[in-house]
Amino acid sequence: MVNSNLIVNNEPKSHTAESFKTLRTNIEFTSMGKTRIILITSSMMGEGKSFISTNLAIAFAQQDKKVLLIDTDLRRGVQHNNLDIKNDMGLSNYLANPKLDLNRIVNATQIKNLYIITRGDVPPNPSELLSTDRMKNLIETVREDYDIVILDAPPALGITDSLILTTFVDTTIIVSAYKKTKRDDLKHAQKAIETVGGKIGGVILNQVDMKKDTYGYYGRYSYYYAEDGEKKKKKC
Ligand SMILES: Nc1ncnc2c1ncn2[C@@H]1O[C@H](COP(=O)(O)OP(=O)(O)O)[C@@H](O)[C@H]1O
Ligand SMILES: [Mg+2]
Repeated sequence: MVNSNLIVNNEPKSHTAESFKTLRTNIEFTSMGKTRIILITSSMMGEGKSFISTNLAIAFAQQDKKVLLIDTDLRRGVQHNNLDIKNDMGLSNYLANPKLDLNRIVNATQIKNLYIITRGDVPPNPSELLSTDRMKNLIETVREDYDIVILDAPPALGITDSLILTTFVDTTIIVSAYKKTKRDDLKHAQKAIETVGGKIGGVILNQVDMKKDTYGYYGRYSYYYAEDGEKKKKKC
């Protein structure tokens, strides 16, 4: 069965794959190529953070960039399922065990240039583990070894995990699900990230139903990258 979470790899000519390439270009353009560490979050669960993280990572890997995808959702991370990788040794294990070498948790994937650190076992104390110097140092180490690092993060509301991580990365992108994410939740997520000092690079509007909405393309979903909250919305 074709894995629909790998659409950019499996259907490279699809409208969705094109959308991810444009999103990739927008990120490169707005950051003048300086951004290496990108965190993807949203206000709630189920808005498409993991789907977007996987496919954006593939879009960068297709450009011959060396890419690392890190599943930082220690509670519900699904990247091992998306990329069909074993999750017996992952980020939570590395953070909890100072003797574990980083090489032990980095896996090659079926996609050229794309490497992954899976979630690992669900720990009792995710927020504490993510706020350690070991996590911060991990990010600084992989910054040297990869062109792009994408963190698939937990939601920004309700738990502090993502907020801590936004202070370790170059840019944070917020995913919002079209007609599902509440405007107030999105605003609260933005505010919470800004309050801790995280830099927001944009908002992706996910799950736009192209059959019902009049954006001129045929296809089920579309992606939008907004450079400055909702004001300068660009289609991609
Ligand atoms: N644009 C999209 N097109 C198709 N399926 C999507 C899209 N966005 C999300 N999904 C699907 O919706 C479900 C929830 O998305 P997920 O990325 O796991 O959300 P989150 O990480 O925010 O909790 C998954 O089954 C995912 O494959
Ligand atoms: Mg997720």
